[in-house]
Amino acid sequence: MSRQAYRAALVHMLDDPCRAPAAEACAYHTDGLLVVEDGHVAAFGAYEDLAPALPAGTPVEALSGRLITPGFVDAHTHYPQTDVIAAWGSQLLGWLNNHTFPAEQAFADRAHADEAAGFFLDQLLRNGATTALVFCTVHKTSVEALFDAALARNMRLIAGKVLMDRNAPPALCDTVETGRADTEALIRAWRGRGRLGYAVTPRFAVTSSEAQLAMAGEVAAAHPDVLVHTHMSENLDEVARVGELFPGHRDYLDVYQRFGLLTDRSVFAHCVHTSEDALRRMVGAGAAAAFCPSSNLLLGSGLFSLRQACACGVTVGLGTDVGAGSSFSLLHMMGEAYKVGQLRGEGLDPLHAFYLATLAGARALKLDDKVGNLAPGKEADFLVLDLAATPLLARRMAAAKTLADKLFVLSILADDRVVERAYLAGALAHARDGDLRR
Ligand code: GUN
Ligand code: ZN
Repeated sequence: MSRQAYRAALVHMLDDPCRAPAAEACAYHTDGLLVVEDGHVAAFGAYEDLAPALPAGTPVEALSGRLITPGFVDAHTHYPQTDVIAAWGSQLLGWLNNHTFPAEQAFADRAHADEAAGFFLDQLLRNGATTALVFCTVHKTSVEALFDAALARNMRLIAGKVLMDRNAPPALCDTVETGRADTEALIRAWRGRGRLGYAVTPRFAVTSSEAQLAMAGEVAAAHPDVLVHTHMSENLDEVARVGELFPGHRDYLDVYQRFGLLTDRSVFAHCVHTSEDALRRMVGAGAAAAFCPSSNLLLGSGLFSLRQACACGVTVGLGTDVGAGSSFSLLHMMGEAYKVGQLRGEGLDPLHAFYLATLAGARALKLDDKVGNLAPGKEADFLVLDLAATPLLARRMAAAKTLADKLFVLSILADDRVVERAYLAGALAHARDGDLRR
């Protein structure tokens, strides 16, 4: 058995701070102890409470000035879009045609996909994202490349092959039959391997025929362990296009619902232009939304109302949505979510933002029995954050007295330099200084 303890400030969320009193929703210890045994959390609490009971001989590493948090959960992103980050000029539909579809065609080539998958996962880790729900491309090999790379790193990751049989370049289109065969084959080949999971991934209603959406719903129904992952109501032109392509439906969500894609395992990215009625139907089904503030701002898609989604009871995770989103950092996304809230006049409490980036994401991905916080028994995916990583951060952090102050400063000033270490299942997977021996 391996056992290691870390002494530092510790924080994690135990519940949604909008639904539970702060003292129950969050556990924070300025002098804490995290004990990891065989890749799982054995204990999390105040040093003075836990130290006396530590088994003799347990190594304790003191990390003063550091904050240990759970690894972040990226509830929506695209690994083939790293190279379209920072593309100038268009809103969603033009951006897909001008930038994204050309870049995704390169993923027919396994060597290209391997290189991009490794770079992407390393970016996740150096930014503190230890779990993600990921779009691949239409190519089966793109999924194999990402799963191979995640397996090698022992990451908890969910991904899927894009389904897309119309309104896209021919080189990026599959068919109902090949889409079904590839998806089924990938589920069979990868289910239960390492910490991987599969998501049936129709890109969005614009690029799938009715027959393909129906097939996706059938495959999801046949495999209760897989998620459904798609986009919905991101941009007004997109919403109008869906209305033209699928006349006679109550709304965008109704299209997915009709084809069996509104489930308790569905994650809908964006939901910016989603009515209260649709949000309530999502809650009724147990589906989740992924809020992607950086992407929504860059593409000019609109301002997601977190307040409305929370009032309706929707589970909301936080997504980078790379490459429409411009950063891999969930800390940065917490800051972007705050700014969206400011533009809406809603505000966003720092603890709520931290919940979105951790436990809420795990809940959205149905992984909260495994990750999302550092409760005993969970997988030990955690971060060591350096609160003085840059001169400006050190200076501003010195004046941040409360936990909320510190989290807010991080959300506005932090980048990948803050993530001193990232651990996956108790093993060091990223070290800012490059030394992976600890
Ligand atoms: N809607 C359909 N495809 C995409 C995509 O790749 N990125 C974003 N942001 N929205 C989409
Ligand atoms: Zn997306």
